[in-house]
Amino acid sequence: MRIDVITIFPEYFGPLSVSLIGKAAARGDITFGVHDLRHWTHDAHRTVDDTPFGGGPGMVMKPEPWGEALDAVVAAGGGAGADALLVIPTPAGVPFTQQHAARYAAQPWLIFACGRYEGIDGRVADEARSVLAVEEVSIGDYVLAGGEPAVLVMTEAICRLLPGVLGNAESATDDSFGFGGIESGGPMAGLVEGPSYTRPRVWRDREVPPVLLSGDHAAIARWRRDGALRRTARNRPDLVARLAAQAPGALDRRDREVLSEAGFPVNAEDVAH
Ligand code: ADE
Repeated sequence: MRIDVITIFPEYFGPLSVSLIGKAAARGDITFGVHDLRHWTHDAHRTVDDTPFGGGPGMVMKPEPWGEALDAVVAAGGGAGADALLVIPTPAGVPFTQQHAARYAAQPWLIFACGRYEGIDGRVADEARSVLAVEEVSIGDYVLAGGEPAVLVMTEAICRLLPGVLGNAESATDDSFGFGGIESGGPMAGLVEGPSYTRPRVWRDREVPPVLLSGDHAAIARWRRDGALRRTARNRPDLVARLAAQAPGALDRRDREVLSEAGFPVNAEDVAH
């Protein structure tokens, strides 16, 4: 997979050479190109921003450097026919989810355009759409100073799904949201993960739950599902509500008992299900 990033802070992307992603890049499984937007400016001050038409606070990134940068990066990677997806991180984008991470991980080539200030002149995305697929995505309902940290977050979420990047191939499918949401129908679909434990068996007088040492795989699976349900009810009641509404058949009698003990409102009719 090829990933290009256009930014005014190339040094921000040092972490891409660290850890699992760094190793995948060193192996050649991922090729990163980090490009300094200012390379495509032509004035002495290497200006990338200007005041907004129509007034308002802050500065807007000028279209000319962005247009040239995208033309050059697209041409260097094989041209517009080469199946690039342009991802523009912005708090005004659609929420980035595990489903996006999986879809992006299946792409041959991603280009990230990191905006700063009040964003990039709106014509840049429109122009890019005439030659490429373009998606505007947000990593959460808060405002960062620029798209760079969002790109690091998304890159990590995407790259850990690539074959060979995670040590244990199962961990990508086993983690919170890893089953691709409710639709996947997997054993933990629509839930976050419960707690996990390792040695020692007793730490500060706290014992690892005995069922995990029992060797009884069905009991362990049930215990893990109980833990996932409790944690989802506590931390993500929105996910339980969605599961109950969209896939009520995915909740068995024991699930409903656990949810009800966790104080999650499930009606009597549901418990009888
Ligand atoms: N740029 C600024 N805030 C952002 C956010 N929440 N997500 C993605 N990009 C951003």
